[in-house]
Amino acid sequence: MAFNIKGKSLFAVKDWSTEEVKFILNLSHDLKKQKYTGQSQNRYNHQKSIAVIMQKASTRTRSAFEVAAFDLGINVTYIGPTGSQIGDKESMEDTAKVLGGFYDGIAFRGSADADVEMLIKHAGVPVWNGLTDGWHPTQMFADYLTVLEQFGRTDVKFVFVGDARSNMGNSLTVMAAHMGAHFVSVAPKELWPDKSVVEIANEIAKKTGAKIEFTEDVMEGTKDADVIYTDVWVSMGEPKEVWAERIALLKDYQVNDTMMANANKNAIFLHCLPAFHDTNTKIGKQVAVDHGMDSLEVTDSVFRSDASKVFSQAENRMHTIKAIMFATFDQ
Ligand code: CP
Ligand code: NVA
Repeated sequence: MAFNIKGKSLFAVKDWSTEEVKFILNLSHDLKKQKYTGQSQNRYNHQKSIAVIMQKASTRTRSAFEVAAFDLGINVTYIGPTGSQIGDKESMEDTAKVLGGFYDGIAFRGSADADVEMLIKHAGVPVWNGLTDGWHPTQMFADYLTVLEQFGRTDVKFVFVGDARSNMGNSLTVMAAHMGAHFVSVAPKELWPDKSVVEIANEIAKKTGAKIEFTEDVMEGTKDADVIYTDVWVSMGEPKEVWAERIALLKDYQVNDTMMANANKNAIFLHCLPAFHDTNTKIGKQVAVDHGMDSLEVTDSVFRSDASKVFSQAENRMHTIKAIMFATFDQ
């Protein structure tokens, strides 16, 4: 291999080479096969420990880190949004220096990108960004493992519809560039990613042959898509007050049957989850009362259709996070 990712942290996929990203995808595929065929993956026999710090809610990412670690024979300490000294009495720099002495790796989910950067700078062990306001890198590997499983290749027409300058919008723009995809973000101009993100993606695209495009036109953007992807319209940490404004901006960008019919015949629907596809959640119910919509970024009909691969995608979080941890541990 012409690269070495041992000891490397994952802040965002923009910091990894295309070769490194592809290596993780291949390793994920192998680890998934191993798990399905009942082979033991206990490589560390509890001689390693990781901390999983979640300052925002999580179902998939936390569970993926924990199950992947247990499979590899790694001990886990979960540190939730309350109950530690982080932030209140102790800075991220001091926290990094303390936890780096205890653990062989640290997963972190929070708001500020700078918190992950501080952990990376001072912990001295691999740090994996489990989502910040700017990036969601571990999600990218599950998304493209799913694409690979469905199409056997990654250079498909991949369309993201929704808040294109969120952590997911940013991350998918760069990941698609690594993957040599024809990537289109379909969103109102106000929600297009920062110029710096597009520049990074275009730079990578020069080497991989990817095409990165942005449009406000739903029908033009989704035409002949292989993948239609969306995410919540309001991300964790954004104030409740933005719901009305965001719904007004994005209501014409809901993924529905008409949009799917405009895509390729064998197109799939992906979503990082959680999704507002019905009113069976507290927020879903409230939005239905306040705005009269019984689904938001995706209709229930698309979410439950055969084209929807969201639960395979969710499962792939575990296999891919296992590959990321395994590949980046120092030994
Ligand atoms: N997709 C994702 O990151 O899910 P969680 O918020 O449940 O971790
Ligand atoms: N953009 C979403 C992703 C959740 C996995 C959020 O940050 O809430």
